[in-house]
Amino acid sequence: MRAIEIIGTGSCVPHHTITNDELAQSIDTSDAWIYPRTGIHAREFCTARQSTVTMAVEAARKAVADAGIPVTGIRAVLVATMSPDFSTPSTACFVSEALKLREDTAALDLNAACSGFIYALETARGILSGIQEMEQGDAPLYALVIGAEQLSRLLKLEDRTTSVLFGDGAGAVIVKLTEAGRSDYAITLGSRGSRDILAPGLYTGAIDKSVDHMVMDGKAVFVFAVEIIPRLIERVLRLSGSDLAQIDYVLCHQANARIIRHVVRKLQVPEAKFPMNMERLGNTSAASIPILLDEMHGNGTLRGGEKLLLAGFGGGLTFGGMQLRFRPEDRT
Ligand code: UT7
Repeated sequence: MRAIEIIGTGSCVPHHTITNDELAQSIDTSDAWIYPRTGIHAREFCTARQSTVTMAVEAARKAVADAGIPVTGIRAVLVATMSPDFSTPSTACFVSEALKLREDTAALDLNAACSGFIYALETARGILSGIQEMEQGDAPLYALVIGAEQLSRLLKLEDRTTSVLFGDGAGAVIVKLTEAGRSDYAITLGSRGSRDILAPGLYTGAIDKSVDHMVMDGKAVFVFAVEIIPRLIERVLRLSGSDLAQIDYVLCHQANARIIRHVVRKLQVPEAKFPMNMERLGNTSAASIPILLDEMHGNGTLRGGEKLLLAGFGGGLTFGGMQLRFRPEDRT
C-alpha cells in the first residue's frame, strides 16, 4: 500500500500572549471559569505584522530545514485553514512563492475546520500517489502539509462563549510517499452536516441567520467530541490491525483538556499517551495537531520510529483519524 510518513516538522506561534487574566480585564470572564472547563490558561494572537500566510511560511521553512530535503523534492503543498488571508490566491500559493517551489507542485488550501490537517495529509497521499503512477520515477516524492489559523480574526472579543477558547498559530510537516504494510498506515474521514459551529458568513437563504463572528453550541460540540474520538481511535486501530498498546502517542485536536481526559478515562489508558498543549495556545483548529507534533519533536519526546495516531474533530461537523509513522529511518 502507498502510505506517507512524517520526516520533518516546523511551527510558528505569534508570541503575543493573552492570558485568561488579561481577557478578564475587558470581558466578564475569569481564569477560574475558563481553566477548569477547558485546560486553557493562555493563547497567542497575531500582531499587526502577522497573519495566516506569514505563520504558514515560517512553519513551512522550519519543516523543510528539519527534514533536510531540497525544496525541489516537494511536489504538493497543502494548507488546512478556515481563516485564510485571501480566498485566492490560496495560502498554499503564497507558501509556494516564498519557498520558490517548482512549477509542477500542486498547491491548494482546504477547509475541514479543526479536522483539516488530517484531511490534508490524506489528500497529499492521494496527490503524491497520482504523481508516482503517472511518472513512474525513482526520485522520492515529498509533500508539505500545513495547518495554519489566524482565528483571532474570526472572533468577537465580547462574545465570551467563543473568544476565550481559540488562538492563532501554524504547524507544518514534510511527508514522504512510501510503500508500507497495513499496520503502518490507516485513515478514516467523515462528516455529519450540522450547524453546531458557525464561522463568519453571509446570509444566503440556506441558513436562518448571517454570522459575523464564530459562534458555537459548546455543549453539543462537547457531546459530539467525546462520542466521536473513541470511535475514530477504534476504527483506525481496526483498519491497521493494531491495538492501542502498539501506538506510542495519540495526538488529538487540542480543543479542550476536559474532552481529552474524558476519552482517556473511557479508553482506560495512561494520560501520558495523549499529549496536550492547549494550556498555553488555546484551540488553534487545523494548526493544533502539527504544532503539537513539532513541539514533541523539538523537546525530544519524538525521536523517530514512533507510531502515531491522530484524531481530529470540528466544525462541519467533520472528523478524521489517521495512523502513521514518524521518521522511521531514525530508528534503524
Ligand atoms: O474545535 C472544536 C472546539 N469546541 C469545543 O471544544 C467546545 C466544547 N465545549 C466545551 O468545552 C464547553 O461546552 C464550553 C467550555 C465551551 C462551555 O462550558 P459549559 O460548561 O458547557 O458552559 P455553558 O455554555 O453551559 O455556560 C454555563 C454558564 C452560562 O451562564 P448561565 O446561563 O448559566 O448564567 C454562560 O453564559 O457560563 C457562562 N459562560 C461564561 N462565564 C464566564 C459562558 N462562557 C463564559 C466565559 N466566562 N468565558
